Amino acid sequence: MSNEKKQWDPSQLRKYDINLEQISRYDYNDPRVDELMSQNKPVIIENSSVVASAKKWNLDYLEKYMGNGDYTVFLSRNHKFKYYDDKKVAKINNGDVGKNIEFTQPTKKVDMKLPEFLKRLKEWKRGDDRLYLQQGLNNTVGSEIVRDFLNFDWNFCNSKQAKHNWGPLTYNLLLIAMEGNVTPCHYDEQQNLFAQIYGYKRCILFPPSQFECLYPYPVYHPHDRQSMVDFDRPEYSKFPKFKEAKGYEAVVGPGDVLYIPIYWWHHIESLMRGGHTITVNFWYKDGPSSSISYPLRDYQKVAIMRNIEKMLQDVLKDPREVGPLLRTMVLGRFTE
Ligand code: FUM
Ligand code: FE
Repeated sequence: MSNEKKQWDPSQLRKYDINLEQISRYDYNDPRVDELMSQNKPVIIENSSVVASAKKWNLDYLEKYMGNGDYTVFLSRNHKFKYYDDKKVAKINNGDVGKNIEFTQPTKKVDMKLPEFLKRLKEWKRGDDRLYLQQGLNNTVGSEIVRDFLNFDWNFCNSKQAKHNWGPLTYNLLLIAMEGNVTPCHYDEQQNLFAQIYGYKRCILFPPSQFECLYPYPVYHPHDRQSMVDFDRPEYSKFPKFKEAKGYEAVVGPGDVLYIPIYWWHHIESLMRGGHTITVNFWYKDGPSSSISYPLRDYQKVAIMRNIEKMLQDVLKDPREVGPLLRTMVLGRFTE
């Protein structure tokens, strides 16, 4: 046991009725890190220097050096920041998806300069919209930040990419959250090295094999890749198998890097009463299809299911016809 005082306590975690076990933590040069990564299983990598150059990133430093760009900030009336796909919203609004489908955006996406964001963060009071900055690190950032970025431990990241046969790095997302903010449960179609820089976040993950317990929205829907289950108030009559979901959880703090494997479900919350949090995500594409081996992995099967659903939606046009057609296909198929 370390003598270090724990920086958070369990009363800061939101309460959910979910069966959870802890994600393993290992030192960056422990061989068990790569063992887990090669099996597409999550692991917390400790003591690496992936974002050591960003150790000094706090709100004052970022205000001084981030630059004058417009950054993407989400505003929410409550603690949840549920992702939606703008292109799919536009399709619904154009009537391309079928009639009688309505969608209301749960959060507002706005452009903000960093000083305004920070001012609103400091002056925030109960009843105001909550804020969550989610901005790709691009060429609008100032030279100090560029220098810190170039000093990330790219050797470490590149070696993981090569060893685990990932595709190219697509981008790095900077996330600055208010305490208590929640990114509800969803999966991404990329490998993710989730590097925590400031404050503490609790991450709850589920493997792709639990697809049936987590009830994703249909693929045409702007919330595609999100779970329909509200963890705060699960509607078990609609989503009975959510009771069987078995997750893995961890609280990550400064210096921790969580590997979130491709297609793994994840729910992420900045701890309540913990102050703001700062994270940088490293997203990598899946490896080339030439490297696929059989039997396929669970996540590849999820990708197949989602692609079939998309193809059916494209040809049938009306999303309400997709379910009945799939049901007929299954029930009309002879199996021993
Ligand atoms: O809120 C978050 O940190 C979310 C990250 C993610 O979905 O990858
Ligand atoms: Fe995600």
